[in-house]
Amino acid sequence: MAGKMMQAVWYTCYGGGAAGLKHVETPVPAPGNGEILLKVEAASINPVDWKIQKGMMRPILPRKFPYIPLGDVAGEVVEVGVGVKNFKAGDKIITNLGLAGGGMAEYAVAKETSTIQRPSEVSAADGACLGIAACTALQSLTTVGGLKLDKNEPRSNVLVTAASGGVGHYAVQLAKLGNTHVTATCGARNIEFVKSLGADEVLDYKTPEGAALKSPSGQKYDVVVHCATGIPWSTFEPNLAPTGKVIDITPGPSAFWTLAVNTITFSKKKLQPLLATPTAERLECLAKLVKEGKLKTVIDSSYPLSKAEEAWAKSIEGHATGKVVVEP
Ligand SMILES: NC(=O)c1ccc[n+]([C@@H]2O[C@H](COP(=O)([O-])OP(=O)(O)OC[C@H]3O[C@@H](n4cnc5c(N)ncnc54)[C@H](OP(=O)(O)O)[C@@H]3O)[C@@H](O)[C@H]2O)c1
Repeated sequence: MAGKMMQAVWYTCYGGGAAGLKHVETPVPAPGNGEILLKVEAASINPVDWKIQKGMMRPILPRKFPYIPLGDVAGEVVEVGVGVKNFKAGDKIITNLGLAGGGMAEYAVAKETSTIQRPSEVSAADGACLGIAACTALQSLTTVGGLKLDKNEPRSNVLVTAASGGVGHYAVQLAKLGNTHVTATCGARNIEFVKSLGADEVLDYKTPEGAALKSPSGQKYDVVVHCATGIPWSTFEPNLAPTGKVIDITPGPSAFWTLAVNTITFSKKKLQPLLATPTAERLECLAKLVKEGKLKTVIDSSYPLSKAEEAWAKSIEGHATGKVVVEP
């Protein structure tokens, strides 16, 4: 593909939101050692993508400008670099491009170690949504929450906040694979949707009961997958089981303060910050669940690359039901 050009969308400085995205023609990247060049079939947006643009991770990210955003993609392998053993041209894949980004383009380069084969039963758009969002849900419930997602495990009460969003809609479904009672929060318009994902009870976060996170059936939560923001520890604490854990996926300074206080007071109730690690192993597990019909991706909206700004704005608004997808 040397010398071939592609359409891409990048930004050249911090800030600017959707208006800061620029459509450009740029050379197709070349795969290095252990890397795969893929033709992007679908990419999904996560809030971290526009948070990076806002400068929330400066000076670590972006490493340099211009920067092509998006890490979660699905596509077709067109070329492999030296040392790639498990993929060949024509393979359909799902991958996470990591900190390098590059998914808002016709072609992107992925590491072989972060890539899996996409089962034919999983569409490119559905597969492209699994990376950060579904891996965060899986990691929260299993690695941190200690659940096996198996009906034979001891019963647990799980709370998922912002259950209508990208992470939350996967967390509800994954939690229900285990022996769980799931309480969820979302806006009034999404209550039936979240019930359809399997939640046992749903609270409207704009009501006093919803804001208090109080289970209507009196459950005390063993595991909380906290996908909303701005809820203090003092709201969670009275609703937790004696060894309940709140997994905070958007931890701010107060979360780290709570963690420190939990630690020095030997509290059995804990707040645990979490950073997603979309490994190939987790992607394999999630793609298998989708293939078997045990997990579904709900797509709020899908946009062609030519309308990438609209997709970006939709995610920034924070009111998506499920995932926002870009398809070159
Ligand atoms: N730590 C990590 O590695 C990691 C990984 C992924 C995501 N995150 C973070 O986790 C958060 C959620 O990500 P996401 O992709 O799920 O976001 P998202 O898809 O943009 O979430 C949007 C949804 O959240 C709902 N919502 C917003 N505030 C709520 C509240 N207070 N209570 C209940 N529902 C609420 C919205 O409902 P309405 O429209 O009704 O308001 C909307 O349906 C973001 O802050 C993101 O940066 C962190």
